[in-house]
Amino acid sequence: EKVILAYSGGLDTTAIIPWLKETYDYDVVCCCIDCGQGKELEGLEERAQYSGASKLYIEDICDEFAEDYIIPCVQAGAVYENKYLLGTAMARPGIAKKLVEIARKEGAVAICHGATGKGNDQIRFELSIKALAPDIKIIAPWRDPKWTIDSREGEVEYCKAHGIDLPFAMDQSYSRDCNLWHISHEGLELENPANEPNYDHLLVLGVSPEKAPDEPEYVTMTFESGVPKTVNGKEMKVADIIRELNRLGGKHGIGIIDIVENRVVGMKSRGVYETPGGTILLEAQKQLEELTLDRATMDVKKDMGNRMAQIVYEGKWFTPLREAVQAFVESTQKYVTGEVKFKLYKGNIIKAGTTSPYSLYSESLASFTTGDLYDHHDADGFITLFGLPLKVRAMRMQELAKE
Ligand code: ARG
Ligand code: SIN
Repeated sequence: EKVILAYSGGLDTTAIIPWLKETYDYDVVCCCIDCGQGKELEGLEERAQYSGASKLYIEDICDEFAEDYIIPCVQAGAVYENKYLLGTAMARPGIAKKLVEIARKEGAVAICHGATGKGNDQIRFELSIKALAPDIKIIAPWRDPKWTIDSREGEVEYCKAHGIDLPFAMDQSYSRDCNLWHISHEGLELENPANEPNYDHLLVLGVSPEKAPDEPEYVTMTFESGVPKTVNGKEMKVADIIRELNRLGGKHGIGIIDIVENRVVGMKSRGVYETPGGTILLEAQKQLEELTLDRATMDVKKDMGNRMAQIVYEGKWFTPLREAVQAFVESTQKYVTGEVKFKLYKGNIIKAGTTSPYSLYSESLASFTTGDLYDHHDADGFITLFGLPLKVRAMRMQELAKE
């Protein structure tokens, strides 16, 4: 029988290969889903086979990740606990979907992942797999009673005992997750919120604001119905737009956040996230919505954005609720079209002008001159009615105070 292993090439998932063979007598098909983690993929094929895998799939899902997962979340303005742009969370359902696809193709009976029993990722992988393939068995070694290895040293020893002698980096590093949208850092000094992050050591996608250039840089983006189309006049597919914005944002120290977040499994955890391009993209999208959405829609959309963030964080991508929230959001994006210009400067995104053919902003209405459309005197009656309930209540209170 075959098992599909979500494989990264790192020590953890490498040790899982002989373990799956020994413990469950499975034929191990490794699967590395590339959603933009970049150079980590070199030499993976040899590594997987040397470690006893019967096959390695490397599947590039960057475009799908960008178009089907990132864009809906950007349009929703989905941000978890006001800060986290959900980079890891958004990628998990896309990865799970691919794992299920390959499991079907290979006729595998199980899918195995290397997420720990303390985190969110296990939930996201497993809810997604359950929703797409309820018949497939899920194996999570870190929670499996048959998994008795409890340290990196133990994993290396286990590998060696099974004839796998690879130069694994043994230096303590952050626990990281990198993709097209972001990189997350957890562990080391971050585990104590009293500590300042060691940014020189930690940052991967960019520099800190104080190391950013002294000269600001302009960036112009266009959107059509809530989808980004060009950066600085160049038309690009979404994944490339994110890559280009990552380059610009990283250079200018944009999008570094430091958060103590509430995990689904109950504990708080401290992490630093770099989302340089994503931060710019979300800001640009919001900027256009300011011009093109009416007040009531914006109000409801804000709630839906929070909902979406919750759904994505909790791994409930493949649910009717996510589809319904996404449908609402999509219908608000019809006129989110136009051009946004920003100045990037030492961690700041400074507005430098926005235009839209569907802008609801009227200069003559907003200015102090009186025109046909708006007579200052109309506000008299409006305020009388708008303030009526609270005036009535205040009058009643006055009477009661006298009694
Ligand atoms: N805490 C973040 C989240 O829940 C990041 C998780 C990072 N995952 C990882 N395997 N390093 O989405
Ligand atoms: C893990 O525990 O596998 C990573 C952290 C998380 O999933 O939240």
